[in-house]
Amino acid sequence: MACVGVLLMASGACTPLDDVTAAIFGRHMRDSRSFDPYENTIAPPENSVPFAAGNITAGPGILNTGQPELGFMPAPITQADLLSPVVQNLPNPVPSDPASLERGEVLFDRYCAICHGLAGVGAEANMTQWIPLLVGFNLSGPGVAGFSDGHIYGIMRVGRGLMPPYGHQISHFDRWNIVNYIRVLQDQAGNTPAGAGAQ
Ligand code: HEC
Repeated sequence: MACVGVLLMASGACTPLDDVTAAIFGRHMRDSRSFDPYENTIAPPENSVPFAAGNITAGPGILNTGQPELGFMPAPITQADLLSPVVQNLPNPVPSDPASLERGEVLFDRYCAICHGLAGVGAEANMTQWIPLLVGFNLSGPGVAGFSDGHIYGIMRVGRGLMPPYGHQISHFDRWNIVNYIRVLQDQAGNTPAGAGAQ
């Protein structure tokens, strides 16, 4: 690949060294076909929905339109915000209907049961067999039953203490589906859930 003209040489687009490497190897790397960082190499397939936008479907045939702007909610929240009135009073936008509970159960069993037990009883979690000293936190017990929906949602989103955050893995609506399902576990355990907006 020969260098074309003095103008290109002056602009740095092509140097004499390029001519030498081109003469030896047949080409030089100045016009490499590699991709630049963050360059989009493949366009997303038609009708695809990015997970990062919180768009994972909330159920069969349901397409969420995205992570809603929470307006009044400072984003991103941190663990220090969990007890703030903003997080405590977050309204739960997902009605606790059979579709939400079905989805919540799948996700709870997938993400939470390993440490909190299938019934929300920490002592029954698989982990406790292997790490007996791990404190099993009861999600169906009276303590968390007294938490507001927003508090449970917030803990899931940013984690708390030893608990890792799940906000990057569980989308906005799905977190609320899990909250709804945890309320059922509490009900089954005889502990009346506090519900949305309670402290
Ligand atoms: C890797 C283990 C692990 C997983 C998985 C996990 N948690 Fe936790 N969770 C913990 C630990 C440990 C604590 C206690 C945190 C602390 O304060 O140090 C905790 C605390 C909590 C609390 C507060 C309990 C209380 O009594 O104050 C809630 C609510 C909670 N988790 C919800 C969830 C939900 C919902 C999921 C699933 C999305 C989940 N956790 C997944 C380990 C886990």
